[in-house]
Amino acid sequence: MAAEVHTPAAPIDEAPVPLDEAGYDRLRRRQWLASEARADGVDRRTLLRMLSAAGVLATPTLAVPVLAPARAAAEEVPKPVPGIVKPLPAEWFVPRGTNAEMRWDALRDADGEAAVGRHVPVERFFVRNHTSTPVIDPDTWRLKLFGSGLRGAPVAERPVEFDLDALRRLPSTRISALIECAGNARSYYRSQQQQSVPGTPWTLGGVGSASWRGVRLADVLRAAGLTRGAVDVLPTGLDPHYVVGGTDYGPVRRPLPVAKALDDVLLAYEMNDEPLTPDHGAPVRLVVPGWVGIASIKWVGTIEVADHPLYSPWNTDFYRLWGPDYPDGGSVPLTTQVVKSAFELASGAVLEAGRGHRLHGRSWSGAAAVRGVEVSTDGGRSWRRADLRDEPRAHGWTRWSIDWRPERSGPYELRARATDRQGTTQPTRAVFNREGYLFGAVVVHPVTVAQDSGPRALGA
Ligand code: MTE
Repeated sequence: MAAEVHTPAAPIDEAPVPLDEAGYDRLRRRQWLASEARADGVDRRTLLRMLSAAGVLATPTLAVPVLAPARAAAEEVPKPVPGIVKPLPAEWFVPRGTNAEMRWDALRDADGEAAVGRHVPVERFFVRNHTSTPVIDPDTWRLKLFGSGLRGAPVAERPVEFDLDALRRLPSTRISALIECAGNARSYYRSQQQQSVPGTPWTLGGVGSASWRGVRLADVLRAAGLTRGAVDVLPTGLDPHYVVGGTDYGPVRRPLPVAKALDDVLLAYEMNDEPLTPDHGAPVRLVVPGWVGIASIKWVGTIEVADHPLYSPWNTDFYRLWGPDYPDGGSVPLTTQVVKSAFELASGAVLEAGRGHRLHGRSWSGAAAVRGVEVSTDGGRSWRRADLRDEPRAHGWTRWSIDWRPERSGPYELRARATDRQGTTQPTRAVFNREGYLFGAVVVHPVTVAQDSGPRALGA
């Protein structure tokens, strides 16, 4: 039976005035210092004690007060990945703890033809799970909204509910967007910069692009009675609690500022024109374009809408930047992804000397469409402009190619460097942060050129 759908309670002109991110941070800081903030799972007295011990309350210039960041231990689940439902063929995936990384060389088939278009097929899409994939019955699933930011301030025990049919009756939207883990490319902090960081050692395959269909979060929030006072929105997943080192962090959940929630966030129920599959968030997940993947909460069960800032370990303990180049209390919670590039080629691939090869790759940025891509085949000494194969667009990647004819055999280093339309170019070195997030530097891609037959796959 369909859940009762609450028709829009708040006229559009009563909707909250969207804030930009800086405004949002300022508001949060003011609310925090005025004692209007709270952190889930930690009582206020304990929190204040911890903050004052950390010197936070005496430091008004801090961006957002945080709990002492916990050391997020690397996931320690043995391979193959037990919590993932779909098959993970070794030619498509590298198992990484509870996650499955997409292999970039799998984007080309044995003849060098494209095996994957602009969107990654669901069965090949990377999976990032904090714990394991829950299999949820779409018929009994309900999305429950509650909180002080909704008209009448419904409580969690008596929420505003939508079932899947009710969501499907709201106007639907289709968007093309990347999902990318904040830790994607983390392993290069160690291999390229000799910096040790904990966590899943992703190479570049913690990213994928898909077409998503669903309902705008803004429409659901308004239908649930969003008020002008709403500040934060906290979607919570229905997957098992995240427990690390004896600490139970509760279900995966991360607040979103209401400005972003009303902008371009989707509650998606389809991926590449099919109903979502369990590993990718069925029956409904968030898709937060341009932002780090943790914002795109899968298996969403509840959404708290509050007239005060909300906190969870995923915006206090995790997914911020700590290190010598960041404020003592850490950066503000991560939002936009950085610029990256990858070759559709195995690391260490063997290519034949004395013949032409067409190198393929993709570049993307969370902030803007890609403006251009340059490739170096000589260890970064010289750069040539790659041919863009797509009309660059925001929230998607741009495919590119470049021809290369290496005459001499031996080891080579390939590099690809993109610039986005905000003018950001991938640097040679990424600024270190303790958890190894947002590695956006140019990745060194080793290949060997041999006199004998290299893979035909690369023939121009
Ligand atoms: N949502 C829940 N409920 N649990 C999770 O573990 N992982 C997040 C996000 N949403 C996660 C989640 C992270 S870190 C990423 S990168 C994306 O989901 C990955 O989405 P995918 O598995 O569909 O590729």
